[in-house]
Amino acid sequence: MANNDFQVLIDSDRIQKRVVELAQAISRDYQHRDLHLVGVLRGAYQFTHDLSGALEVPHSVDYISVASYGASTRSSGNVQLRMNVKYPVTGKDVLIVDDIIDTGTTLGWLMEYMESLRPSSLRTCCFLDKPSRRRLSLATDYVGFPIDDLFVVGYGLDYQEKYRELPFISWVSPREVLV
Ligand code: IMP
Ligand code: MG
Repeated sequence: MANNDFQVLIDSDRIQKRVVELAQAISRDYQHRDLHLVGVLRGAYQFTHDLSGALEVPHSVDYISVASYGASTRSSGNVQLRMNVKYPVTGKDVLIVDDIIDTGTTLGWLMEYMESLRPSSLRTCCFLDKPSRRRLSLATDYVGFPIDDLFVVGYGLDYQEKYRELPFISWVSPREVLV
């Protein structure tokens, strides 16, 4: 599929503007703190990169990798740690940076895991949120865009490891993707 075959839900300009707004809000809240971003691979790699670049406060960046989906378009409800963080988070003001909250299973698991590592504070920043799909009640501190219950790709989000490179968020039904 060529890039112009996709139905664009959020274009690249809106994404970049919203990332700057989020970075400004986070920068205001984290002045004189020990801000430590933990990006969730692989979906949040683009978002973590752009957010970090737009922040106006010093911070460090680490990554963690978890899997909850397998190859389906629905969460399996089963979270596995694929790659752990590299740097200690104890005493740091940790901000988990994730691509999308769907049922909340992944983020709920990650928050519990991070809490067990004793950060000084813990918040979340998610690029997309599908509130209608939530099965776990979660405090979401910073959200890019709430969206309807659609399966989306682009800006780091994949369908079976494809379409992460698209600079926009697109709605693609799995049937179309498979064609
Ligand atoms: P949850 O555990 O159900 O909240 O699922 C969260 C994870 O599922 C995200 O980090 C994504 O990797 C994946 N996911 C959920 N919805 C979508 C989507 O619409 N497109 C691509 N990946 C998604
Ligand atoms: Mg994924």
